[in-house]
Parts: sequence; structure tokens; C-alpha cells
Amino acid sequence: MNVTPWEVEGVIDYSKLIEEFGMQPFSEVLPEIDNPHILMRRGAIFGHRDYWRIIEAMRKKEPWAVMSGFMPSGLPHFGHKMTMDEIVWHQSAGGKAFVAIADMEAHSVRGLSWEKTRELGMLYIKSIIALGLREDAVIYFQSKSSHVKDLAFELSAEVNFSELRAIYGFNSDTSLAKMFVTAIQAADILHPQLEEFGGPKPVVVPVGADQDPHMRLTRDLAARISIFSFEPVEGGVRVRSRKGAEYLSSLRDLEFDKKIYEEHMDIFGEAEEIERAVRKIEVEIGGFAFIPPSSTYHRFTTGLTGGKMSSSKPESYISLLDPPEEGAKKVMKAFTGGRATAEEQRRLGGEPDRCVVFELYSFHLIDSDEELNQIEAECREGRLLCGKCKKMAAELVKSFLKEHQEKMEAVDLSNYTIIG
Ligand code: TRP
Ligand code: SF4
Repeated sequence: MNVTPWEVEGVIDYSKLIEEFGMQPFSEVLPEIDNPHILMRRGAIFGHRDYWRIIEAMRKKEPWAVMSGFMPSGLPHFGHKMTMDEIVWHQSAGGKAFVAIADMEAHSVRGLSWEKTRELGMLYIKSIIALGLREDAVIYFQSKSSHVKDLAFELSAEVNFSELRAIYGFNSDTSLAKMFVTAIQAADILHPQLEEFGGPKPVVVPVGADQDPHMRLTRDLAARISIFSFEPVEGGVRVRSRKGAEYLSSLRDLEFDKKIYEEHMDIFGEAEEIERAVRKIEVEIGGFAFIPPSSTYHRFTTGLTGGKMSSSKPESYISLLDPPEEGAKKVMKAFTGGRATAEEQRRLGGEPDRCVVFELYSFHLIDSDEELNQIEAECREGRLLCGKCKKMAAELVKSFLKEHQEKMEAVDLSNYTIIG
């Protein structure tokens, strides 16, 4: 398998991906989440980094945010719907929501005109609002956010070519703009922590697993661009300054027991409290004090004809804007986990875990566990055949699309703040 932000190939083994990328399995935090979303419960979200920060902030009712972005290079489809549902869920769980339209990425990497990125971008915005995004979200086009562009420039001072080559496989033919959009995406992710947006806070970024290289770079940059760094020591935290030891003196008045050394300071007490106090001082003296962002990773959406759902293959996906009838037709042509003949399927049963139709049910179309379990059992036992099953799914897709498009029509953008 080959998984990069610009290419996903081969059969994806998610446990191997967790290991290779160094993510944590989502199952580990799932029991700690109140009313988890179906994408969490049903294993669509399989991995995370530092999601415990979000769980803690939710629990203590402290400020936190959710942020993700969409590259407007084609029409929004069910793959994007996953990210949209995740943003909306986190917003209703108490996070401040940030939604980026990655027009700079679409323009520079995919060569779309600015007009086209705007037109497509508005469809993503209307879609996520139709899916329930509330009005207090910050929605923006990258090219129109000076916070993001200024921060990207600042971050880019911390990155050199060898690092980009190691993370993304860039080479001497890679354009400067394509390199720079990695800093733009890092700025997308970090800017909710700027003072203008309330300062440092945990931020969760729901994304597809292919975006993890961006997360790794961003988490490194969050640390590199901030003044103070933390490491655990017996009974407390060792604080170092990345920008010169003279900054340590600003921590002298902190009300904790401490030992002061030339190049670092050991501060004793509860780690979280210490870090919070140090971050507060960092912000006061003009630093960023970024908390490394958390992330969740969802599976790639299987294309209707197998492989990954991709905006460059129209027959592989159902767009959220497809005419409902057409969406239904695409479902009827989808690959299933069925057997070669009806006789064989009655005898051996179908394979829902290899079935695109079942994936649609599970991640998008059926909320009730009872109903889903029943379909799964009937499929496995050979009592449900694919023809009938697909017809059911086609009907559900048709009514979903109809309703979604009506809601999009009814969206009143004047209630929202859109930077762009
Ligand atoms: N690169 C992402 C994609 O291709 C889009 C994106 C832009 C994004 N900025 C982001 C995703 C910030 C997460 C966070 O889909
Ligand atoms: Fe998929 Fe339905 Fe066929 Fe089972 S019966 S393999 S769930 S289409």
C-alpha cells in the first residue's frame, strides 16, 4: 500500500497504517466518549493522536476547537461527508468549529482557477451547513485569511527542504507553491490557537488517514515555533526555552517549587497545571505557546466500483449534488460483497465487510444499530440477496440526496461569517 496526501494506492491495512504512521488505535479512547458518533462506534474512525486532550477538555468544560479543511477540486461526495459529520458532531459536543476551504491548495496543486475554487468551495460550505453546522463556526477560504497566510509564512521559517523531502517525498521538480501549501495547512490547523481566537487550546482535526503527514509536520511545528518546551521529570516538568535561555527568567515568579539551571528549569507540581501557567506567560510575552493538535483518522471511502472514492472518477462516487435518481442508479451498479450466483449466496451468505453498499449503510444511511445488525445477519446467512439489498440502499440514497439538496437550497448564508 502507498498512502500520501496526494496518492492512495493498494489494499489498505489499517492496523499496519497505525503502526507505520505511529497513530493510536481509536478503540482505546472510544469508551471514554459520551454519545460517540456512529463513525466512531462503527469503526470508520480507526485511529487518533492525542484525542485524550479533547476528552479532558470536554469533561472539564474548558475551551477546545475542531478544525478541518476541504480542497475544492471536485464536487463534495460521501468521503467528504464523513469529515463534515465529524466537524458537526464535535461542534455540538462543545468545540468551536473552524472550516477551511483549501482554495490555495486546489489552485496551486490541482491547477484550478480561482473562480472555480470559489464556486466549488461554496458547495462545500452549503453542504456542511445542510449537515448541521451551526452559525458560530469560522468558515474561510485560505486565500482570504490573513491570519492563516501570515502564520504560514512564520511557520515556513522553521521548515527546510530536507524535512519536506523526508515527509512528502518532494524533489527538485516540486514547485515552491506546492511546498508552501504544506505550511498553509499547518497554519489552518494552528490558527485557532492564536490570541485573536482565544489563545492556546486543544484542537482536534478530523481527517482521512492520508492527511497524517500534515499532522506530523504540524505537531512538530507547533513545538518548534513556541518558546517553551516541556518534558516530564520526577515530580514535575522540565521546561526549556527554544528561543534562548533568557526567556526562562520570565518564569521566575511562577508559584511552584522550582530548580533553576542555566539552560532549563525544573518545576514541581501537577504537570498540566504547570504547562498551563507557562503557556499563559508565553502568550503574555508574545509567544505562540501552541498545544500540539490532536487528530482522528477515518477510513478511505471505498469507491462504488472498488478502489478509493475519487473526485477524478465520477463513476466511483456519489456526489452530494448528484440528481437523486442518478445517485440511486450508481448504487445499483456498485460492487457488493455478494457471491457469483444467487444459489451460492443462499448457501454461503454474503460478505458485508467487503461490501460498498454495506459501508454506505453503516457510515451514512442507517442510524439504528438494530436495523443495521439485522441487515448484516440476513446478508451473512444468505437470506438477503444483493439485488433487493441494493434497491433498499438506492432508495435511501435517493431520499438522502433529495433532502440534502433541499436543505442546501434553503441555507441562509447571511447568518454565517464566511471569510472570503
Ligand atoms: N489537504 C486537505 C485535503 O486535501 C484539505 C485541508 C486543507 C485540510 N487544510 C486543512 C484538512 C486543514 C485538515 C486540516 O483534503
Ligand atoms: Fe452487500 Fe447487501 Fe449484498 Fe450483503 S446483501 S453483500 S450487504 S449488497
